[in-house]
Amino acid sequence: MSSQVHGAQKFDNAKRSETVFSEDAMKTVQTIISRYPADKIKSALLPVLHVAQAEFGGWLSPETMDYVASVLKIKPIEVFEVASFYSMYNLKPMGKCVLEVCQTSSCWLNGAEDIVKYIEKKLNIKVGETTKDGMFSLKVAECLGSCGTAPMLQCGASYHENLTYEKVDSLLENYKAEGKLKSYTDLDYKNTL
Ligand code: FES
Repeated sequence: MSSQVHGAQKFDNAKRSETVFSEDAMKTVQTIISRYPADKIKSALLPVLHVAQAEFGGWLSPETMDYVASVLKIKPIEVFEVASFYSMYNLKPMGKCVLEVCQTSSCWLNGAEDIVKYIEKKLNIKVGETTKDGMFSLKVAECLGSCGTAPMLQCGASYHENLTYEKVDSLLENYKAEGKLKSYTDLDYKNTL
């Protein structure tokens, strides 16, 4: 499987002036919440954080986490504990496209280190940094479950597998031309959250 492009992005990713979900996002949040018993609403936190991250510019600011806490009627610290634990949540502003290169065994054995170096050189950034134009951030990740098609990277909901330098060139060009924030919610929400 090569580059996968999933369904249309659901939410307005433009920077919003106030921390309130759009109507579409709130509907999705309510659907997610409705899947859990009323006294287990906290269980909705992970998928709701995905919606929040997609909705508010690709990262979770303290204001956004406080807002999510108010929506789920839980304590802000409970949101922070979860958001700071999982690598898919960003606690600082990121590029529109966050490139997560798997560095675990299968990918490492198949050249992940060289792929990381190649991207670093091409984008003139190091792991953990964002390009000056705000388009790309580079991260390394632990096994993303696609070991048979190593080396691979994830960007939002898309996997890019059996990577070569040429494939990296092509995906970077495509993302740049598209110029959109890529999020985990690019997947069809009904099937994934
Ligand atoms: S080792 Fe890279 S996806 Fe599993």
